[in-house]
Amino acid sequence: MNLKEMVGYKAAEFVKDGMTVGLGTGSTAYYMVEAIGKRVKEDGLQIVGVTTSFKTADHARALGIPLKDIDEVEKIDLTIDGADEISSQYQGIKGGGAAHLFEKIVANLSDKNIWIVDESKLVDELGAFPLPIEVVHFGSGQLFKLFEKKGYKPTWRNDKEGKQLVTDSGNLIIDLNMGLIEEPLKLAKWLDSLTGVVEHGLFLNCVNTVIVGTSEGPVVEEVNR
Ligand code: A5P
Repeated sequence: MNLKEMVGYKAAEFVKDGMTVGLGTGSTAYYMVEAIGKRVKEDGLQIVGVTTSFKTADHARALGIPLKDIDEVEKIDLTIDGADEISSQYQGIKGGGAAHLFEKIVANLSDKNIWIVDESKLVDELGAFPLPIEVVHFGSGQLFKLFEKKGYKPTWRNDKEGKQLVTDSGNLIIDLNMGLIEEPLKLAKWLDSLTGVVEHGLFLNCVNTVIVGTSEGPVVEEVNR
């Protein structure tokens, strides 16, 4: 079992009958969806899933996990998702899979958020991983120039075929190659203020539990907020 699989299966143990569960996106969340699908099929686990991307929706549907639209649910009990970086302060960067807009909407509606990562995702401070910014098409070149002027070394996100990536919401992604983000809260506030920025990948004061895959097994860390 690889580390991503290990944490995916561990996280699925937190899912209980009757829950509405946010299903994350990415190569780690993939295993969590598999594990939940298995419990639904083999143990009769009764849950409703809310997905964070078209890809996860297709996957969950194929496994027979009952799904509801985000606007049909009263609340989400628990969301399990991956992360690209987690700092020592439990702040995160997400969006490496371009799904951070839906992921943040689902996370913000959730009573509890669990992130599942292998230990390579743990850092002292955020910023080595490029920070994804989802932007609308119109004026996106102007935002790109603004990020350049700020010294944030922006790059356009391409898909596997080398074409400009278009998100599930039809937007574009600019990645900021900052190296180190000294003040994540200040940066998030500034990004939130920019017209044309739909959502950024800083997930601050969001996670409640982190499950880290290590060679010794999964380590569950509860976050005090
Ligand atoms: C999707 O946009 C992301 O936020 C993912 O959750 C994150 O990139 C982690 O993905 P991996 O598990 O594939 O590394």
